[in-house]
Amino acid sequence: MDERLVSSDASWEEEKTELSLRPQTLKQYIGQQKVKENLTIFIQAAKMREETLDHVLLYGPPGLGKTTMAQIIANEMGGELRTTAGPAIERPGDLAAILTALEPGDVLFIDEIHRLHKSIEEVLYPAMEDFCLDIVIGKGASARSVRLDLPPFTLVGATTRAGSLSAPLRDRFGVMSRLEYYKEEDLTEIVTRSAEIMGIAISSSASLEIARRSRGTPRIANRLLRRVRDFAQVQGNGNITEELACTSLQMLQVDALGLDHIDHKLLVGMIEKFRGGPVGLDTIAATIGEESETIEDVYEPYLLQIGFIQRTPRGRIVTKQAYEHFNMEVPNE
Ligand SMILES: Nc1ncnc2c1ncn2[C@@H]1O[C@H](COP(=O)(O)OP(=O)(O)OP(=O)(O)O)[C@@H](O)[C@H]1O
Ligand SMILES: [Mg+2]
Repeated sequence: MDERLVSSDASWEEEKTELSLRPQTLKQYIGQQKVKENLTIFIQAAKMREETLDHVLLYGPPGLGKTTMAQIIANEMGGELRTTAGPAIERPGDLAAILTALEPGDVLFIDEIHRLHKSIEEVLYPAMEDFCLDIVIGKGASARSVRLDLPPFTLVGATTRAGSLSAPLRDRFGVMSRLEYYKEEDLTEIVTRSAEIMGIAISSSASLEIARRSRGTPRIANRLLRRVRDFAQVQGNGNITEELACTSLQMLQVDALGLDHIDHKLLVGMIEKFRGGPVGLDTIAATIGEESETIEDVYEPYLLQIGFIQRTPRGRIVTKQAYEHFNMEVPNE
């Protein structure tokens, strides 16, 4: 896959800088009002009862703040965050080792939880429900099952695909929160906050301009801010003005809606080769030389969100808004 400025995945370099930009408390967490309100109440109630918080499933597209929220839950509950990921747990024993090492009140964060093996999920069921672990000792006829108690803990699972989670696993989460793409004003606030932390001078109209092109995603907003800062240092006096933000984003080939060359290739390809569709996902994938899954998980969600593509039973179609965005004539029919 091409290196993409507007990719919602974190680069290796970003994983380090993200640490300092991550909000630490629910109050500092910008946007996602509904999720925040609910969690605030659940956390407060759990603390009043001196219990651990119910298990939480966070789902939504990459870069919207799932890992950040897991860390905040641990902070707010006063426990440690233990982090692992679905693909990292290969055998049931790996998970058993993680679970038995937990301290009371810890938050266990499992990223990409939809990628856990079935056999490993089964270890998780009694752990989530009764805080215990069933292990088999011995082999053959002399094998017996022993139950181990675990300390009370909170599992926070994160996934970009809630639909791929098995029903028994999904049902064991007491709280399910869907993170949405951020509103423009929330992203503007995030850009302003990040600039302050990084010591960058930026005007409010420039923050808004960066926010608009960030595809509703804080990770992209922070990335565009860093790239624009480079322009400000080299071509300006270090201050980010609206004009500087616009010209540098133009040079970075991120358009007014945050679309880049790959979005253009995809949409214009659908328009020119298939008269705007309907066209099947596999056909689109073959045309632009990408995997169908990548299109479905990475390219398409934002285009669906802004209404440039629609899903129909016969395939994807390009909408009128997209034609207008590219100044192309809408075919009548
Ligand atoms: N509500 C928020 N307020 C301020 N900054 C935020 C917020 N949410 C996310 N961020 C910023 O966006 C970056 C990415 O967030 P995070 O790593 O939590 O996303 P994620 O959903 O876990 O992504 P992935 O699916 O790739 O794991 C963080 O470094 C943080 O700085
Ligand atoms: Mg994450």
